Amino acid sequence: MSRRESVGTVAAMDVAALESEALSAIASAPTLGALDDARVRYLGRKSELKQALRGVRDRESGLALNTARERIESAVAEREHELRSAALQDALSAEALDVTVSLPGDEVHLGTLHPTTLTRRVVEDAFLGLGYEVIEDREVETTYYNFDQLAFPPAHPTRSPRDTFFLDEERVLRTETSPSQIHVMEAKPPPIYMVSLGRVYRRDEITPTRFPIFHQFEGLAVDRHLTLADLKGTLLHVMRALYGEERQVRFRTHFFPFTEPSIEPDVSCPICELAGCRTCKFTGWIEMGGAGMVDPQVFENVGIDPTEWSGFAFGCGIERAAQLRHGIPEIRPFWENDLRVLRQF
Ligand code: DAH
Repeated sequence: MSRRESVGTVAAMDVAALESEALSAIASAPTLGALDDARVRYLGRKSELKQALRGVRDRESGLALNTARERIESAVAEREHELRSAALQDALSAEALDVTVSLPGDEVHLGTLHPTTLTRRVVEDAFLGLGYEVIEDREVETTYYNFDQLAFPPAHPTRSPRDTFFLDEERVLRTETSPSQIHVMEAKPPPIYMVSLGRVYRRDEITPTRFPIFHQFEGLAVDRHLTLADLKGTLLHVMRALYGEERQVRFRTHFFPFTEPSIEPDVSCPICELAGCRTCKFTGWIEMGGAGMVDPQVFENVGIDPTEWSGFAFGCGIERAAQLRHGIPEIRPFWENDLRVLRQF
């Protein structure tokens, strides 16, 4: 006996079978479309259930059929809810990596580089472009490297604790970056092209132009047939990197224990272009440090033959260069960590 023929006097067994068939079809409907098909098949106007309800004669089968209908309807609602929330979950996890639908992130406040660092990087880049090796050396030196090997005579004033910070009899905070020359020449044979950048220390009072800590860059070139002209061309290259292509460089004679001849390089004043102003003390030129040809005595100290090799060296202050580049009138702000100043760079 088919169910369709039994509906007029529906047997409890048939309704139960119909209901369980409907419930399992609904529970396993894989999509909302499939669920709708099942709903039409079991609850639609032409469904067995609806037709049976239309033909109901006795109260008992009516009750049984209605109960089955209600259970099937709530099964459909429940499965629909399941499928919709699964679809939502899928969509959310598929879009989780789509940055175009995210909200904007929190703004990150990046700091700015310190003017000393900015200037230091200009110098490093200029020398890297010339094929120099860029190094950073120790700040605690022995008197042997800071003075003896650089041919400072025994009575030179910077050997005094009045001028130099001594840690003990033989160790000092380096007073200049020049000891790097010795370390590099001891470490490897020529040719050498190196620049060493870092802090140096002197027992100076703090004034608008002096501070007991500052930075220098130190260059050393050792090769065959180097001359003062090579030194001048090298300094010109760096000064132009620092202050623009219009720069000129001139040399004045001077004295340093470790160079012969020694000179002080001047750069044409970038503020007034040689016309004379307060920055250049109305001379048109600004002193940039010290330089010279490596003294034969220094070569002998490190075991390099001065008849075969020649070299030049130079040292300049980095804060001084930064002051000139950015128009900062004093050296003190470089060490005060005042954000109102530092944020401007
Ligand atoms: N070290 C010197 C200073 O601090 C500057 C200097 C002069 C460096 C001559 C050199 C040099 O390399 O050859 O005043």
